[in-house]
Amino acid sequence: MISFENVPKELEPFLGEVKGRMFLVTGGAGFIGSHLVDCLLKMGAGRIVVIDNLSTGNVDNISKDSRVEVLNERAENSKPEGKFDFILHLASMADPTAFIEHPIEIMDANILGTRNMLELAEKTGAKFLFASTSEVYGNPPAEALPLKEEYNGNVSVLGPRACYDESKRVGEVLVRAFIQNRKVDGRIVRIFNTYGPKMKRYGQYGRVVPNFVCQALVGEPLTVYGTGKQTRSFCYVTDTVAGMLLLLFREGTKGMIVNVGNDNEMSVLELANIVTELTGTESNIVFKELPKDDPLRRKPDLTKAKTLGYSPKVKLEDGLRETIKFYKGILGK
Ligand SMILES: NC(=O)c1ccc[n+]([C@@H]2O[C@H](COP(=O)([O-])OP(=O)(O)OC[C@H]3O[C@@H](n4cnc5c(N)ncnc54)[C@H](O)[C@@H]3O)[C@@H](O)[C@H]2O)c1
Repeated sequence: MISFENVPKELEPFLGEVKGRMFLVTGGAGFIGSHLVDCLLKMGAGRIVVIDNLSTGNVDNISKDSRVEVLNERAENSKPEGKFDFILHLASMADPTAFIEHPIEIMDANILGTRNMLELAEKTGAKFLFASTSEVYGNPPAEALPLKEEYNGNVSVLGPRACYDESKRVGEVLVRAFIQNRKVDGRIVRIFNTYGPKMKRYGQYGRVVPNFVCQALVGEPLTVYGTGKQTRSFCYVTDTVAGMLLLLFREGTKGMIVNVGNDNEMSVLELANIVTELTGTESNIVFKELPKDDPLRRKPDLTKAKTLGYSPKVKLEDGLRETIKFYKGILGK
């Protein structure tokens, strides 16, 4: 599996930062969070406290290691004991189905949860990282692409995605306020579409990679919403985690907002065809109505991330093969 069997080369200079240190990771039992915990363990972290209410996460995602303690708590209420060197706030459901079913919980995680974790960072002097999203850019016009961090976004406050997009935007404002007024050493990563093993398939409008892969493996038609011409840029999870940790550990990143992802833009229909080919499925493709406010294009400008030494490495086909292997395992195929 493409995983953290070895520490990625670009993170090797930071082994000294990690060795024996105390980490708090909210959402650490989720998809990205559990890979991130794996990477920190591999880098020699002393102790990792995971705060996760297990709404979409699962303790089995986390490697069994005596250095990890999982607290089944909400990020917005949790008051963990101890001194932390680093706090990474990833807790939030991130799936379009959850935007419809759990909007209040999502806003709580991104607003109240961010505030609670920032207060803990202030109290303990921890370095802080907030997992924001490309969704803060909303549905940008073609001339705004590739999306730079300076782009203000075109977000609908009324649409079904607003609970997620707007609460991440508030989360970002909170981080900036705690940096300015409370001296917290914070930074913000805007994550673009990330995929890989351990991603949960949740609901009908779930995320496109697990949807296509699972549909292909069980022989159901692959559901494409709209024409399928809308684009996304898919990043394998180990690359996303490497980008997040570079932003956390690199000197001089206090206050930075950085896109992390892959800039290999493709249409959803192209993705469906690649999944069809890699799985060898006989499933066909069905087209359904595009959900409201679904972004038409997504492509990050990675110039800033590259100044930190970031460069996504995993090719889409290789990452998809790993993801297909994972779902074959859980679907018993
Ligand atoms: N996967 C992506 O493509 C992507 C893109 C942009 C941003 N992000 C952000 O990255 C983070 C992780 O996303 P993911 O893809 O791993 O999703 P995920 O659903 O797998 O992980 C989220 C985790 O947070 C936990 N959680 C949710 N609400 C909580 C709360 N109030 N308190 C404690 N735990 C809570 C869930 O149980 C889960 O383990 C999220 O903040 C998400 O918004 C992800």
